[in-house]
Parts: sequence; structure tokens; C-alpha cells
Amino acid sequence: MTTNAVEMLDIVKQFPNPAGGLVNAVDHVSFAVQDGEFFSMLGPSGCGKTTSLRMIAGFEYPTFGRILLHGKDIGQTPPYQRNVNTVFQQYALFPHMSVGQNVGFGLEMKGVEKLEIERRVGEALDMVRLSAMEKRKPSQLSGGQQQRVAVARALINRPEVLLLDEPLGALDLKLRKEMQLELKTLQREVGITFIYVTHDQEEAMTMSDRIMVMNHGKALQLGTPAEVYERPNSRFVADFIGETNFMEGRLKTPGGGAVVEVECAGGLGVHAVGGAGLPVGAPVTVAVRPERVAINRSFENVNCFAGTVLDLVYIGTDTYYNVRLDGGQVLRVREQNADPTQRTIAAVGDKVQVTLKAESAVVLVE
Ligand SMILES: Nc1ncnc2c1ncn2[C@@H]1O[C@H](COP(=O)(O)OP(=O)(O)OP(=O)(O)O)[C@@H](O)[C@H]1O
Ligand SMILES: [Mg+2]
Repeated sequence: MTTNAVEMLDIVKQFPNPAGGLVNAVDHVSFAVQDGEFFSMLGPSGCGKTTSLRMIAGFEYPTFGRILLHGKDIGQTPPYQRNVNTVFQQYALFPHMSVGQNVGFGLEMKGVEKLEIERRVGEALDMVRLSAMEKRKPSQLSGGQQQRVAVARALINRPEVLLLDEPLGALDLKLRKEMQLELKTLQREVGITFIYVTHDQEEAMTMSDRIMVMNHGKALQLGTPAEVYERPNSRFVADFIGETNFMEGRLKTPGGGAVVEVECAGGLGVHAVGGAGLPVGAPVTVAVRPERVAINRSFENVNCFAGTVLDLVYIGTDTYYNVRLDGGQVLRVREQNADPTQRTIAAVGDKVQVTLKAESAVVLVE
């Protein structure tokens, strides 16, 4: 049976706003993070990610709602009495101390015996593959190495939960990608629950077991990377994660059946999935990913539309096309260049057929 490491129960966090009122920075958010899970909060700047994390850490207290750590209410417990640790974007290492001293500092403050500290510092540095650097000063390390020191320092107390707030934000893209995989591997090895905050959707997709997408203080969707990508529950989620085509229209058949039909611009009948509970005529948006649209390949006998190639961009692995359908709608299409004999399959101005499977088209209400 899986247990919950952290539970947020209908959490509201209010801050005073400049107008003298109150604003819900976190707005009735509930979720549970399972033991040993790599859980990410993903959303744009100001959506309430850091505030949520700070409430779990104890640096902020919820205005309303309860927080449980392994089933125990910690709503009003001060940070130092919670068995959680935080890694921030700014690693805040002590510059005059060696790597080893930085990692062992917390234990020293707690009065842990010297030999025990040495043993645990060694263990923690092993985990982040920095054993050889124990005697160095932070200034003698790269950004990625410094961040690994910060992670080792946070793990040495064996927290029940490790909170990470955009820890890779200061690193360049290549290093960041390396560190993403490294952190994910480390999390699997140590088995500690990670709650990770990022506004980078690719980062969240790469690392997480589950992702909670937030906007304006609200949790919009919680699911595995595949679930939020394949079955976004709102236009915001579909737009925030990956690229999406949106086609607006009205339901032609009642929502919720295996496949529904949506009448879109220019009388286009698009077959899609979802829309449970919606009546005929309800205004909806159909979302479909560019890589789920094909050009001149008829694998489906519905959702076959004639159009004209407006432009294309060849990016090596793939070619992007913008196709204007005869109904007026422009669809972005991503075709893989898997066949070396055929780099592009259509040219600008070509009349083409575009096709998409009904199960790749999702009906969204908002
Ligand atoms: N101490 C505070 N006093 C007043 N308002 C605050 C305070 N802390 C945060 N806020 C507001 O609460 C909202 C959420 O802030 P938060 O820092 O949680 O966002 P975030 O999702 O972490 O954003 P970012 O990606 O930019 O770090 C923002 O509108 C912010 O201005
Ligand atoms: Mg933040």
C-alpha cells in the first residue's frame, strides 16, 4: 500500500495586496504526494508554486486548510521541527568553508559527534558523486557542482521530504539537462520523496512521476507526464505543456461518447474524444498536438481535411508545416524526418490532405 508523504487539504494562502485587500496566492489547493514520489509543481511565474512549497517547509503558514506530513498535522509546526529540507535556486553555500564543512554544518550545529559527521558527509558526497571535492571551496566548483553540494547538504539529515525550488534555474541549458537526469537518478537511489518546483514544462516532464499544473493559485490538473500531455483538462494546460492546435466549435453530438463530433470553422466536422456531460451545441475547443496531424497519409477515414501548405520549417529531426485548411483554419503539423530519402513531404503552396486520429483530438471546455 502506498502512503502519503504530504497531504495538502484545501489550502488557502492569503497575502495583503497593494489595494489594501487580500489576494489568494494559493487558492483552495488539495493534493497528496506519495511516499518516494518525484512530484512537480509546474506553472507560470506568480502562480503560487513557491508559496505552496514554503508552507510545506514551514516558512509560511496556511491561512486556511491543513497540511499533513506522513499523516500528522504540521499546519502550525515551526520549520525546524519538520523533517523536511529545502534546496533553493541560490545554493547559499558558505564561501569560507570547504565542501565537506558545508555539507556537515547542520549536523555540527546539532552537536552530532565528529566521526559520525565525517561518515555521513562522506556518504552524502558519494550520493552526489563529489567525494573527490570534499576539501575544495565552493568558489572552486562549477555551478552544477555547487548545486550538488547544496543537495548533499539537504539530504544529510535524511529528511522525509526534500523540497526543491527551481534548483537548476541558474545553470545553462546543457548543464541543466545533465542535472535533471542526475537528480532524477539520485531521487530513485535514495528513495526520498522529492517535491520539485519549476516553470519549465520540459524539466517537469523529464523528471517527474506526477506533475501538478498550477495557474493563478489554483491546481488545474494533476497526473503523470503522459496524462497531462495526452489528456489536458483545460486550454491552459494544453497550451502550457507542449505545442497545441486549438480549433473552436460547437458539439454536434452529445459529449462523453467514445467519439464526439465538433463543428468547427468553415463547417469542418472534427471527430474527437471527451466533453462528458456536455449537450449538443455546447461551445468547445478541440486541442490536437502538431505531431498527431499527418500530411498526405490516410490512416483514418474521419478527420481528413483538404488544405494548402502556407510555409514550412525544416529543423533536422522534423519538419514543421503550417497548413491552411479549406475551411480557413490553420493547423501546425510536425512530421518526423525518419526516412532519409524523403526530407520534406510537401512544398509551400502544395494542396495536401491532413489527417488526425479522433483519439488524438481532445475536447476542452475552458
Ligand atoms: N510575502 C508576500 N506578500 C505578498 N504577496 C506575496 C508574498 N509572497 C508571494 N506573494 C504573491 O503571491 C503570488 C504567488 O507567488 P509565488 O512566489 O508563490 O509564485 P511562484 O509560482 O513561485 O512564481 P515564480 O515562478 O516567479 O517563482 C504572487 O502573486 C506573489 O506576488
Ligand atoms: Mg517561485
